[in-house]
Amino acid sequence: MGFDHRKYVAFTPVRKTDRRWPDKVIESAPDWCAVDLRDGNQALVKPMSVAQKTRMFDLLVKLGFKEIEIGFPAASQPDFDFCRKLIDENRIPDDVHIQVLTQARPELIARTYEAVEGAKAVIVHVYNSTSTVQREKVFGLDRAGIREIAVNGARIVKAHAEKQPGTQWTFQYSPESFTGTELDFAADVIDAVNDVWRPDQGQPVVINLPATVEMATPNVFADQIEWICDTVRYREHIRISVHTHNDRGCGVAAAELAVMAGADRVEGTLMGNGERTGNMDLVTMAMNLYSQGIDPKVDLSGMAEITDVVEACTEIQTHPRHPYAGELVFTAFSGSHQDAIRKCLSTYSAGDSWEIAYLPIDPRDLGRRYEEVVRINSQSGKGGVAYVLERDYNISLPRWLQIEFSKVVQSAAEAEGGEVDSDTIHRLFEDRYLSVRPEWCLRTYDLHRTDDGVTATVEYGQDQLMKLSGEGLGAVEAVAAGLESHHGFSLAVEAYDEFALGEGTKANAMACIRIQVGGQPYSAAALAEDTTSATLQALLSAVAHHVGSRQDAGQKQAGSPA
Ligand code: KIV
Ligand code: ZN
Repeated sequence: MGFDHRKYVAFTPVRKTDRRWPDKVIESAPDWCAVDLRDGNQALVKPMSVAQKTRMFDLLVKLGFKEIEIGFPAASQPDFDFCRKLIDENRIPDDVHIQVLTQARPELIARTYEAVEGAKAVIVHVYNSTSTVQREKVFGLDRAGIREIAVNGARIVKAHAEKQPGTQWTFQYSPESFTGTELDFAADVIDAVNDVWRPDQGQPVVINLPATVEMATPNVFADQIEWICDTVRYREHIRISVHTHNDRGCGVAAAELAVMAGADRVEGTLMGNGERTGNMDLVTMAMNLYSQGIDPKVDLSGMAEITDVVEACTEIQTHPRHPYAGELVFTAFSGSHQDAIRKCLSTYSAGDSWEIAYLPIDPRDLGRRYEEVVRINSQSGKGGVAYVLERDYNISLPRWLQIEFSKVVQSAAEAEGGEVDSDTIHRLFEDRYLSVRPEWCLRTYDLHRTDDGVTATVEYGQDQLMKLSGEGLGAVEAVAAGLESHHGFSLAVEAYDEFALGEGTKANAMACIRIQVGGQPYSAAALAEDTTSATLQALLSAVAHHVGSRQDAGQKQAGSPA
């Protein structure tokens, strides 16, 4: 059996009796560090060109990121050259710290300092692997040996910085594979590194705790972070950072719980590009904060530009369901969702707090339009179809016609097998209800009110005009009576609605009517200059549907074999 869960060992949870993070609430954004140009870039099939890196850097700056990891300059010539380009061309704003990664090896640290010479503010990020598996199987070293690599790296980082006093240096240490490292050992290495750097004496230090591989549920990661925050020395002088990956699909959740557990800073990438399943997605986490009324301290309002740049630089398409950014994430196809959204939006005004069913945030905040919210397929219902006609064509249907017309749209969607766009919905409505056969086109009408009701005369048709009169309590009843006596059938008006149309439409009024003849319903609608013309035309068109169907049936019968 290839598929055998017994091959895997469950992650040992952290034993903790003083767990406080579950009751914490995030009330402000953490410090962000964008690692698109390093962790994101190193995971790409085709690493970014200089032009792509520059575009990504400029975007990150524009969005408001103040700490940006720009590469691993000692490991790659393109990363080295890119560092130099940013510095030599003066492209780094004064309030932005660039960050560069290096392994804790003397020659790599030296080359890293060459790459950033002359920069105003730099975070030198040094790392070595500390996990049990890496110690035993990759490096063949014991705890002391691994600790020595970190401490030696810290010393060399410090010594180089002292030689370039013109730069504001921040030192960052990552016990790589932290999630697979025994907590007491991780704390021991962190303390040893800080004993060299002395954050208590004014040296800015970041201790970055990576879930290099996501190995357990986010609550376990939060326990690990809380334990480290409680245990390491110099805690009040250092920033604790987290750097989560998404192997179990919980990179964002793990970072959020880590912030509840005490982390001050979060590393990630836009849209979560990164090794394997990716890094923590900065867009999702920042927008999660925004949706809770917290200023995310980055401006993601131009989401289309963000996805354009990320797609162009990574050559990876944005998933249509990507939180906050995907094409479909503000779209409802289901009828009941559409109904609820339509009702909530109809009472929403700018300045209200956002309480709209099925929409966790206002799509317009990200440069999206309400037009995208309701899209129609065979799952949609009357509310969605009515919404599209109202939104795009200023046509408001009465409820009875919404129900009837949505079935027409549903059949079209089923036949099509996919989405029915707004143009098609409008065309279906025109064909089915609004189109007027020339021989049924209302030409004139005359209404004469008496004490007993109304006497109506209408003329309709094209070349040869038909003229008929009738009496009734109102105009519709009077014209219906005329039609009944002329055609020799009786009709009942089941429903009719007329309303004035808003500005910007050619016609001023619209009417919808449903009649019944011989137990069969026939509906029609009409647009006209005034409501009476619209109503009478709708009545004529409904009768035309009946007469037309009678003629069709007659022709079928005449053509059928005896
Ligand atoms: O995932 C990781 O552990 C890293 C480190 C170098 C911080 O990217
Ligand atoms: Zn990483």
